[in-house]
Formats: sequence, C-alpha cells, structure tokens
Amino acid sequence: MMTLLAIETSCDETAAAVLRGYGEILSHTVFSQAEIHSKFGGVVPEVASRNHLQSAPWVIDEALKTAGVEVGELDTVAATNGPGLASALLVGSAVAKGIAIGAGKPFMAINHLEGHMLSPFFGRQDIPPHISLVVSGGHTLLFDVHGFGDYRLLGRTLDDAAGEAFDKVAKLLGLGYPGGVRIDRLARDGNANRFDFPRGMIDSGDYNFSFSGLKTAVRVFLEKHGTAEADLPDLCASFQAAILDVLLAKLFRALKESGHQSAAISGGVSANAALRSRAADRASKEGVVLHTAPPGLHTDNALMIAYAAAHHAAAGITSPFDEDIYPNFDPKRLQAS
Ligand code: KG4
Ligand code: ZN
Repeated sequence: MMTLLAIETSCDETAAAVLRGYGEILSHTVFSQAEIHSKFGGVVPEVASRNHLQSAPWVIDEALKTAGVEVGELDTVAATNGPGLASALLVGSAVAKGIAIGAGKPFMAINHLEGHMLSPFFGRQDIPPHISLVVSGGHTLLFDVHGFGDYRLLGRTLDDAAGEAFDKVAKLLGLGYPGGVRIDRLARDGNANRFDFPRGMIDSGDYNFSFSGLKTAVRVFLEKHGTAEADLPDLCASFQAAILDVLLAKLFRALKESGHQSAAISGGVSANAALRSRAADRASKEGVVLHTAPPGLHTDNALMIAYAAAHHAAAGITSPFDEDIYPNFDPKRLQAS
C-alpha cells in the first residue's frame, strides 16, 4: 500500500498529512493562521506566505513524527499547486519538491478543488457518479462528476463565493474573521423567516450563483436599522437561509436533471450545521445519497490533498519537478491528464 505525504499551503492553513492507502490516517496536522490574520480583518497574502515559510518545517516534521514514518519510507510527496494565493502556493510546492528530490521520490501537484471535491469519499477507492457542490471561501462550484478525473463544470459563482459572503456579512455584523462559523453558531438560535433577503439567481435557469446582491442587501439593511445585539441571531439565520436556499435549489435541480443518485458537498461552508441538516433532509426525501467529508476535512487540510494524490498515484499520474503553480481556477486543470 502507498504511503503519501501531502502539504497544503494555498491560503492561511499550513497543513501536512501522511496517508496510507485511501483511508489509513497516519497523521493530519493543521496550523491555522486565522488568529494572525484576524487583526487585519482577512487574509493578507504576504503575511500568509511568511507564516507558511516559518511553519511548514515544523508542521511537516510533526506530521512525519506522529506517523512514525521516515522520509525514505514515503512513496510520493504531494503539494497543492492551485488555486490559491500565489506566494502561499509557492512555499508548499517548493518544500514538497525539495523533500521529494532529497529523498529520490516522485512529486505530485494536486488541485486544491479536487482535494475538496473528493473529500466526501475519503477512505473509498471508487468515486461514484454524483453531483458535487464545492462551497469554500474562494469558490462556489457545481460539477457533474462521472468518476475520478472526470469532472464537468455545470456552474459557478459570478461574483462572491459562498464562504466569502459569510465572511463579509460577518464583518458587517461586527463578528470578526473568520465569520462563517460564527454566523453558523448564532443562526442556531435565530428565526430564519424574520428578515427577507434576496435569493440571487434562484430562478436563473442555469447553475450559476451570485451572492454579492445578498451582501449588499444586508449592508443596506444595517445602514437603515443598525445592528441591535438582540437581532443578531435572526439576522444570521435569515442571511444564512438565503444562501442555503439557492445552493440547495441548484444542487437538487442538477441531481434531477442528471439522474445521479448521489450528491457530495465539500469545502469550508460544508461544515455549516444548517446546510448539512437541510441537505440531509432533502436528500432522504428525494431518495438521494448525500456524501459529506468527515469532521476536520471540511475546511482546508492536507489529508484531502493526500487522498486525491492516492487516486492520482493509482492512475499512474505524477508531476514533473518543473511543475508550476496555478493561482487561478481553470476547470481544464481539474481533469486527470
Ligand atoms: O475550504 P476553506 O477552508 O478554504 C477555501 O478553500 O477557501 O473554506 C473557508 C470558508 C470561509 O469562508 C469560512 O467562513 C467558511 O469556509 N466556513 C463556514 C463554516 N466554517 C467555515 N461557513 C459557514 N458555516 C460554517 N460552519
Ligand atoms: Zn479550501
């Protein structure tokens, strides 16, 4: 069985993991820089890269020590090479290449979004046909997946990503960064029907999304009415319901139109309690199997990169040592070559 080391540094998590086969977790280390960036109100790219540079050595060392694996015992070294912050991606890719070259092992460049997309199937060797909704801080994507390496993009956000909308609205509400999880918590005690916020593009007839109108609607509402502490739970619940209504409407329409029996939701926003319970309820009503990642694999981590790398290894795909990084999203880069 393959033993893989994976390194993830696309945004503000410095992460390393050692995986054996498709599901034996030997180690899984995530150092979140969120606290460092929170005083700036969001991720500052250069601060992120400098922190990756300082943290990657101990994060990787800890992952290898916890796994009880020597570099010489690894079959391959993988790193995220995009999409993400250019200077942050460079650190993880350079470190992974250095380890691979030093140890005489193959290097594997992995797409961050493929890592998220496959994470709901963690542990499995097969990727069933399904509709995949990826909702992260940087992306909102809907795919028709026919199997590993066969991903057809159905739609994407035309402006803000779902996680970005959570973070921006959290900032407007004075909840700080990162805001998604704080809105999630407050919304649990709120009335989602109290305020009526727009469901952008819900009837657009395509699979694209738009969340910037919703963010503006919240801002205009707050300018008019202010943020009374007592209204926070209802505001969070009402805003969250507007996002979830659109995500779920498009996901389930794609399931109906494709005829697929399985759905997967991944990315940081898939940690959201209301999204998970609403998606699960609707899936059971419509006779669809819903897959979500195990806890710890929703937000950025290196285990999902290692798991995607295991599929690449099985397909005989490695990357050259002069492989570049790709900061921008390009659906063509997701296809297995
Ligand atoms: O996948 P991820 O860790 O990073 C990217 O690839 O972008 O996603 C981070 C995003 C952030 O916008 C964060 O606010 C959001 O996921 N998020 C949540 C929750 N936990 C994280 N959004 C809503 N509810 C949550 N529980
Ligand atoms: Zn991510």
